[in-house]
Amino acid sequence: AKITFITSDNEEIVAEATSGTVMELAKENNVNGIDGDCGGVCSCATCHVHVAEEDFEKVGAPGEIEADMLELEDNYNERSRLCCQIDMSDAIDGVTLYVAN
Ligand code: FES
Repeated sequence: AKITFITSDNEEIVAEATSGTVMELAKENNVNGIDGDCGGVCSCATCHVHVAEEDFEKVGAPGEIEADMLELEDNYNERSRLCCQIDMSDAIDGVTLYVAN
């Protein structure tokens, strides 16, 4: 799937992978603001993104533990996700994610 990341500096990075997580993809492509400090176990929130409005249905809502983490974040909104909890698959092809850090 192909993912477009928009950083807080408005830099646009388009990246593609068939497996792994969106956080790993962001790290591999040096997307500024996605640090993935916990290694993808849903405990650091340094992989916080806002899903584009038109893409939220494709990506889906956060799980319970993820939602609890997100609610503590300053930039939390109703389209927040921790992108280490989003698996790469065809289902999310073409989505745009705004880096929230
Ligand atoms: Fe730590 Fe996603 S990488 S919560």
